[in-house]
Amino acid sequence: MTDLTNTNLLGAPGDVFGLRDQPVLVVGGGSGIGRATALLLGRVGARVAVADLDHARASEVAAEVAALGVQSFAVAGNVTDPTDAQRVVDEAHAALGGLHSLINIVGVASWSDLLSMDLAMWESDLRSNLTHHLFVGRAAARHMIADGVAGRIAIVTSISGIFGAPNHAAYGAAKAGAIGLARSMANEWAVHGIRVNSVAPDIIATPRVIAGFVERGISDMNAIVAADGVPMARWGTPDEIAGPLVFLVSDLSGFITGQNLVVDGGTQARFPHGGPKPFTPEES
Ligand SMILES: NC(=O)c1ccc[n+]([C@@H]2O[C@H](COP(=O)([O-])OP(=O)(O)OC[C@H]3O[C@@H](n4cnc5c(N)ncnc54)[C@H](O)[C@@H]3O)[C@@H](O)[C@H]2O)c1
Repeated sequence: MTDLTNTNLLGAPGDVFGLRDQPVLVVGGGSGIGRATALLLGRVGARVAVADLDHARASEVAAEVAALGVQSFAVAGNVTDPTDAQRVVDEAHAALGGLHSLINIVGVASWSDLLSMDLAMWESDLRSNLTHHLFVGRAAARHMIADGVAGRIAIVTSISGIFGAPNHAAYGAAKAGAIGLARSMANEWAVHGIRVNSVAPDIIATPRVIAGFVERGISDMNAIVAADGVPMARWGTPDEIAGPLVFLVSDLSGFITGQNLVVDGGTQARFPHGGPKPFTPEES
């Protein structure tokens, strides 16, 4: 039972996140935001299972995390398959001796206009961005409940789940669904002490996204974002999503559940139609 009068629960010296030695599973940890998250968890002393479709990448990241001096473990699997998702969670739970937190980053973007999109693409997007959160989330929650652990779950959604965009409907609908699913999980599992939140990034400079821009001959990516009106006038970094994810599974967010934290360099804080422009130095 939480002591509501105790104002001195936080901030054990050297372990303000309360994650030291805690077993945490990062799904999609082999690259980009997932890799940054696994490394940050290692830096705050957590023991980390790195799961990914790509075994080589999962192993590389697990080795990087282990080099920080914490236990780390790699597991390969395709979490869009319910049997594989269950196995990944079970193996992580067994290897780490429990599960304090789950961070699931997996998501795959596709592009198609609605009139020509076929059902296979629609269904694949829903599987890759929404349905696997059910498979992985409840497999983890069942372990947490059986172990009597007040666990934490954080998933990555997207601002595409909030705003509409042409040719991005399946991804956007799936991400909106993931925001809703996280809210429902938060409601159902609060009774077990489990908190569930999501983080919705705007554009983040991960190797996958950078490669896509380079392929199209675009090198000055910050200029594009600035021209689009992002107040901070730059891309975010993988670390800048890892930070909020780790915060949401840490003791520092103990009364936060069912939230979708938008991390967008200020875009949502601006007039939807552009609005007034900041003064130039001459005008101010
Ligand atoms: N990068 C951005 O600009 C951006 C913006 C908004 C939202 N997001 C979301 O952030 C998340 C991570 O994005 P990223 O750019 O780091 O992607 P990424 O492709 O670099 O990393 C995703 C990782 O997930 C793994 N993966 C994919 N499908 C899997 C599956 N079925 N089972 C297990 N592992 C699987 C991949 O192998 C990869 O290592 C995604 O959910 C994405 O939709 C990214």
